[in-house]
Amino acid sequence: MIALGIEGTAHTCGVGIVNAKGDILANEIKMYKPEKGGIHPREAANHHAEHLVPTIKAAVEKAGISFKDIDLVTFSQGPGLGPCLRTVATGARALAISLKVPIIGVNHCIAHLEIGRIKTEAKDPVLLYASGGNTQVIAFANGKYRIFGETLDIGIGNMFDKLGREIGLGYYAGPKIEKAALEGSKLLDLPYSVKGMDLAFSGILTAALQHRAKGEGIEDICFSVQETCFAMLTEVTERAMAHIEKSEVLLGGGVVQNKRLQGMVAKMAQDRGGSIFVPDRFLCMDNGAMIAWTGLVMYEGGVRMTVKDTEIDQRFRTDQVEVTWR
Ligand code: FE2
Repeated sequence: MIALGIEGTAHTCGVGIVNAKGDILANEIKMYKPEKGGIHPREAANHHAEHLVPTIKAAVEKAGISFKDIDLVTFSQGPGLGPCLRTVATGARALAISLKVPIIGVNHCIAHLEIGRIKTEAKDPVLLYASGGNTQVIAFANGKYRIFGETLDIGIGNMFDKLGREIGLGYYAGPKIEKAALEGSKLLDLPYSVKGMDLAFSGILTAALQHRAKGEGIEDICFSVQETCFAMLTEVTERAMAHIEKSEVLLGGGVVQNKRLQGMVAKMAQDRGGSIFVPDRFLCMDNGAMIAWTGLVMYEGGVRMTVKDTEIDQRFRTDQVEVTWR
């Protein structure tokens, strides 16, 4: 079986093609980059509308297959930005109908976990998913993927981008914050916001900007923000692992490229006698291959959808999905 998957929850328009062994035959990505400010949902959707068909064609060509070889069309059904989700869902439906093949809508967060399970040695991990729009700790328990902890306000990546803009580092600030943090050493006082198993980041942003207004250096601010936020993420991940007695931690999302975060989580996992798994960069980021693969295992697990079932869901929760494939 060959599945084509379309990702389009936020800034990435991605098309991936996989086979039933989990080989990735193509994984094409077009990313929307706002000229200034953060993601504008309508502009991002326009970007996806413009790039979707060429990206599908490029993926089919890269995979060395023809359209008639595609057995299944899958797409990111949510969570995400409404206009973006609607654009890729429309494209996916049109493609499935024209090819006369089944269609499967995929939960984007579960896809980050499933691609890690096939592309790393992780078997039953706790996923620390840290990206622009999402920050969650997810694991499989009692027949479903469940969220053990999550952000109560904004995704950590969005917070980094807001901080980057305010202190002059520009958009897609994560790598710039990571670089600046290497030069910092003074741990500034920031609100360590772990509430139960959940997290909050907006207060940290406010406090960091207050430090900047008082003349603290950008390097020390970046260092302090990273140390505080990553300690919070590591703590919640560890508590989830302890609670459900799992020894593997898998990383997913754009923010997990950060080497300091990887180091902290790795140390925590090692201290517990567990292990950490980090998929390739292009599989950590939003991409079509993870959607294709998850849709494929869902289909093989007996999931079937009519076009009506493919309605998008901006607030699609992982535990809404009946997991029939594990
Ligand atoms: Fe994502």
